[in-house]
Amino acid sequence: MNKGLFITFEGADGCGKTTQLEMLAEYLQSKGYDIVITREPGAKGLGEKIREILLNYDGEVSDRCESFLFLADRAQHIDMIVNPAVEAGKIVLCDRHTDSSVAYQGYGRQLPVERIKMLNAIAVNGRNPDLTIVFDIDVETSMSRVGKERDRMESAGQDFFNRVRQGYLEIAKQEPQRVKVLDASKSINEVHKDVIKLVKSLF
Ligand code: TYD
Repeated sequence: MNKGLFITFEGADGCGKTTQLEMLAEYLQSKGYDIVITREPGAKGLGEKIREILLNYDGEVSDRCESFLFLADRAQHIDMIVNPAVEAGKIVLCDRHTDSSVAYQGYGRQLPVERIKMLNAIAVNGRNPDLTIVFDIDVETSMSRVGKERDRMESAGQDFFNRVRQGYLEIAKQEPQRVKVLDASKSINEVHKDVIKLVKSLF
């Protein structure tokens, strides 16, 4: 393979996507592929500082400011980490990306979805995922997995997370080619098999 791939993992907090990303990375590495694991917000360097503000700042943060911080992190991440890796022929597995802004800031915080999409387009500057996997699960289950220790975003409440979930399903409906929804209430191994099936369709 001479062109890299960019695969993003999406879903509400507690959906199990990070575990699935790690399992896929191990699987692909065992087949000899060169894998880069990364995340938003805060892959490394400046991004980690932005992440710290987004998740732990305990003063008031306006919804618009929150959106721009995620977008600033995204622009840095695309330029410094994602593009160089994809251009070098690697497979980049990214824990959250543009659809998190649409689902959380658009549907969750109820900012205008079309504007978030437009700002996303500016932040990614033409780099779009080859595949996005949404791990869908009901809100009660995902929140019970998150537990009682919650960061600033995880403390947003049940209604917020219901909107986030609906947001992801809406995104998948609008972009069925790129965005695939998996039932994340299945066992870890069953979900892993579903992930592999989707990724194999890219080769
Ligand atoms: P993180 O600890 O990485 O959560 P998770 O393990 O569930 O991915 O925290 C990231 C939080 O930021 C998560 O609650 C989702 C939120 N988020 C947004 O609201 N907008 C965004 O654009 C991104 C990338 C994340």
